[in-house]
Amino acid sequence: MQYYIKTFGCQMNVYDSGRIANILQSLGYKEAERIEEADLVIFNTCHIREKAAEKVFSDLGRLNLIREERENQDKKTIIGVVGCVVQAEDEQIWKRAPFVDFALGPLTYHRLPEILAKIKRKQGDFVIDTEFPVEAKFDYLPENTSTTSCSYLAIQEGCDNFCTYCVVPYTRGAEYSRPVEDVLKEAQRLIDSGSIEINLLGQNVNSYHGEDKNGKERGLDYLLRKLAEFDKLKRIRYTTSYPADMSDEIIACHKDLDKLMPYLHLPVQSGSDKILKSMNRRHTSGDYLKIVEKLHKANPNLRMSSDFIVGFPGETDEDFKATLNIVNQVKYIQAFSFKYSRRPGTPAALMPNQVEEKIKKERLEILQNLLFNYQNQFNQSCIGKTMPVLFESQGRHKGQLIGRTPYMQNLHASIPAGQLNKIVNVKITAATTNSLSGKMEGA
Ligand code: 5AD
Ligand code: SF4
Repeated sequence: MQYYIKTFGCQMNVYDSGRIANILQSLGYKEAERIEEADLVIFNTCHIREKAAEKVFSDLGRLNLIREERENQDKKTIIGVVGCVVQAEDEQIWKRAPFVDFALGPLTYHRLPEILAKIKRKQGDFVIDTEFPVEAKFDYLPENTSTTSCSYLAIQEGCDNFCTYCVVPYTRGAEYSRPVEDVLKEAQRLIDSGSIEINLLGQNVNSYHGEDKNGKERGLDYLLRKLAEFDKLKRIRYTTSYPADMSDEIIACHKDLDKLMPYLHLPVQSGSDKILKSMNRRHTSGDYLKIVEKLHKANPNLRMSSDFIVGFPGETDEDFKATLNIVNQVKYIQAFSFKYSRRPGTPAALMPNQVEEKIKKERLEILQNLLFNYQNQFNQSCIGKTMPVLFESQGRHKGQLIGRTPYMQNLHASIPAGQLNKIVNVKITAATTNSLSGKMEGA
């Protein structure tokens, strides 16, 4: 039996898909190279914006054609949908894609073996499980057998912040932090199987508060310091953080820990205090700028990235200017920006003063131009510098490897294949808005 997993959305989904693959491998499944060859296809879905959710349904339509084609060849295909779309739209999946065999919410995919067994025994037409179970899914998963040099490690899940535009508190449930020992054990396993970079993941990773073996609550700073003690681990990152939870203890780690990369994704969403309040964010633009200042003091080489939403209900030209203003102050080196998308069940969807699509589009274009400008400026400023690059994959051209700088910039270089999965000093020779190229130092 072969499986194929298609992942939509955020890094948490990428991590979850890896763990789903671990479950399937423990059941004897092998990974298919092409979707057409798979006996089991799983879509791990995203519901954050309307576009993301609609993409799942259109791709499911395409998958149904593959399923029919295989059926003509007497091959059965089991189709599963997991993740946030299931949590939010369980009924819709059943209605819009009746050929789907099972659907699991993001907190229940550890029940996959039981569900596959049920399907094979043909009990019922459609199995769905969207509970927020009492047991933690992490306790029921097989070991994380990732063997890449750069790994994700989920330490926290869910969110209690309830930003008024966001579905995450409804799809991923309440905030939960994994115990310290579990995280360290998983880190040790990842390092033993070749990881030299670990990216700690959570929807709200900097509010991590897991228990240590004595039952004492520990923050993210404690975890970062513990991880830095692993000799073979060379790089540490964490994402995504919430500004109001950016404690002085975590900021101090950016001063003390060389292994902590000098790049932080800290979404501000908007530069307008009126909009931030209406978004139910627990910070003002001034609070945010103060945090950035402290971070720069802790590590002057640190650079920032962010998420932005334009066209939130009630956003005026003045509010939008405040967003451009914060971009001009922080000079982000990378960013993700989106038009506000009305999500069913969230408070902002019901707010009056929804912004016209045309205005959202115009504002997004203006913001993205400004963001690209700063990103490009930073990339250009890297030319001539030497940076340590972790080479993670083969490039498209022969003899080329692709890696990442400490600032998460993609870099490609003609470099001996033996440097794959190693950190190599590279002199930057050229830059575009989206990537760098360089030469191995001494080559
Ligand atoms: N509309 C637009 N963007 C959104 N995001 C979350 N919810 C919405 C929404 N309803 C963005 C935020 C968040 C990122 C992951 O997605 O910027 O930080
Ligand atoms: Fe969504 Fe806000 Fe929680 Fe981030 S902090 S996951 S934007 S509710």
